[in-house]
Amino acid sequence: MSIMFDTVQVGDMPVRNRFVHSATHEVLAETDGRVTEEIVRRYETLAKGEVGLIIPGHMFVHPSGRAHPRQSGIYCDEMIPGLCRLTDAVHAHGGKVAVQLAHGGRQSPKKVLGTQPLAPSGHGRDPVTMNKPRQMTREIIRETVQAFIDAARRAAEAGADAVQLHGAHGYLICEFLSPFYNRRRDEYGGSAEGRFRFLREIVTGVRSVLPDTMPVLVKMNGNDYTPRTGVTPDLAARYAAWLVDMGVAAVEVSGGTYYGFQSVRGEIPIPELVQTLPAWMRPIARIKMHFEKSKSRFAEAYNLEAAKTIRPATGTATLILVGGMRSLSKMEEIVSAGHADMISMSRPFIREPLLVKKFREGKKTEADCISCNMCSAAMFNEIPVRCYRKGLPAVFRA
Ligand SMILES: Cc1cc2nc3c(=O)[nH]c(=O)nc-3n(C[C@H](O)[C@H](O)[C@H](O)COP(=O)(O)O)c2cc1C
Repeated sequence: MSIMFDTVQVGDMPVRNRFVHSATHEVLAETDGRVTEEIVRRYETLAKGEVGLIIPGHMFVHPSGRAHPRQSGIYCDEMIPGLCRLTDAVHAHGGKVAVQLAHGGRQSPKKVLGTQPLAPSGHGRDPVTMNKPRQMTREIIRETVQAFIDAARRAAEAGADAVQLHGAHGYLICEFLSPFYNRRRDEYGGSAEGRFRFLREIVTGVRSVLPDTMPVLVKMNGNDYTPRTGVTPDLAARYAAWLVDMGVAAVEVSGGTYYGFQSVRGEIPIPELVQTLPAWMRPIARIKMHFEKSKSRFAEAYNLEAAKTIRPATGTATLILVGGMRSLSKMEEIVSAGHADMISMSRPFIREPLLVKKFREGKKTEADCISCNMCSAAMFNEIPVRCYRKGLPAVFRA
């Protein structure tokens, strides 16, 4: 039997194999953020498909951190019953659930929030929304840390097996960690220790409200790929070591922000993405995306080099690798070499929710996903995320 089907421990949580469903925003929640039956069914199917650890789409911990209109929320207790249905459905088929706690920071669009987005620093504009962020005061930082802590408590009450803090892809935690986004001079910036402080306070607070046996995971960038230096593999390794010292059970290594397509390398469906922007932004966006193409070309296991730098810092904690994992042989090679303990996928599961079962039964050795990114385009068009390899439905074409 393949090494990928070993039972593994993530902290105190046993997982039936080494496969992780990486958080994937579904565009299926109620407009107030409640989990719908369609979301429950999606994760039930993935659990039937034998995915070991399922991380549903990022859930906003506070209304100020909402990134999409149909995003799941975990910002108040009314969200708990829907989440209970989700965790029950996954548990009924032997899977484990980690709820991803998120705040969109400066990447939360003003048109979704109705107000200016928050960020560690107020410089510049978001490259996608062109919104100008508002620098968070210490009081707002304190409230936001508390929102993560309250959300973690709700996840535990809803029967989640773990929580994952979303510290990747240019969202709020990632912004605090990054010397590019975080230009603060107070105790939340100025040095690696200062920029780590926001995440440190969240981890400490979250740990204090969760049962001792419930693991805390962090998804972080091995590389920000921002216009000026942000998080690099070496800096990510320092952060990972601090996280593990604080009792974080697993680090998922990803990369990229809204400045490029390095989070989801592959094709850039330019017309489908451009149509989501206001008309005045389209010509320049088209040109920018053409230039991005060479930087975001697909390569299997595209975050592996960053993971190799981070690995020594994680010690006995679990390292989860995400990004372009497609063939079973490559996964086995990476795990056997000790570069990662678990392998995480997003787009392959959108197309083939039963992929893990098919791998186990020997019916497949490779995912079908061609990384065309029509699923990503669907997300930005606010239509439910599915595999749209043949194009978005006509009604959504401009
Ligand atoms: C439609 C879509 C939605 C995503 N939503 C999230 C999310 O909610 N949280 C997150 O951390 N990453 C999100 N991602 C990124 C994936 O988790 C993953 O890091 C990335 O797609 C690379 O993995 P892959 O090559 O297996 O798709 C999303 C990706 C896609 C395509």
